[in-house]
Amino acid sequence: MSLIITVRHGVHLSGIRVTDKTFLLKHLHSRDVYDTTLNIPHPYTETDADWWIQKRIEHTRRLGQEVSFAIRDDEARLIGVVSADSLQLGTTHRAEIGYWLARPWWGQGIMTDAVRTFVRYAFTDLHLRRLTAHVFESNVGSARVLEKNGFKLEGRLRKHVSKDGQLLDGRLYGLLKEDLF
Ligand SMILES: CC(C)(COP(=O)(O)OP(=O)(O)OC[C@H]1O[C@@H](n2cnc3c(N)ncnc32)[C@H](O)[C@@H]1OP(=O)(O)O)[C@@H](O)C(=O)NCCC(=O)NCCS
Repeated sequence: MSLIITVRHGVHLSGIRVTDKTFLLKHLHSRDVYDTTLNIPHPYTETDADWWIQKRIEHTRRLGQEVSFAIRDDEARLIGVVSADSLQLGTTHRAEIGYWLARPWWGQGIMTDAVRTFVRYAFTDLHLRRLTAHVFESNVGSARVLEKNGFKLEGRLRKHVSKDGQLLDGRLYGLLKEDLF
């Protein structure tokens, strides 16, 4: 797969590749991303990185289309991810999205732009009709990213998430294709 989508000057999206391992290990070493996500282990090991990369590559090969993208800097180094990892194209009209950005790049509007780019791709190229995202109630930044991209708050989910032995409140956001186009 060689799809490359420009997000903004110096930042683009493209498929996951084996050489991303170094950057996954570098960026997911600390708890910065772990603390506000559910599916990223901590500590993050080489086995975790290998497993995820292989899963993404196989998934893309099976679907014939990218559904998981690396967010890359101007030298094509992975600095984050925006994806719909569990999407089975052709069987559904909707997908749950997930995303993370390495800490040095926070607060520059990059994820707002990356999600906007991904959403347009999902509605036009993947022909989806509905996208959802779950965020922890405390994750104000992630909620803002979604709201700035037109996602609507569809539910407050009490004690929905189990994280490190604690039950946390969550929020469900949704976006329909017709909300945008
Ligand atoms: C949450 C995350 C994706 C935000 O990415 P980002 O590129 O820093 O976000 P942006 O710069 O596009 O900011 C979007 C909006 O959120 C606000 N924001 C970002 N981080 C914030 C924070 N920690 N607290 C309050 N507001 C925040 C910004 O001010 C901006 O709003 P504004 O335009 O109204 O000022 C990023 O911090 C991250 O990857 N965190 C760890 C993983 C994670 O939480 N993933 C999402 C799981 S649902």
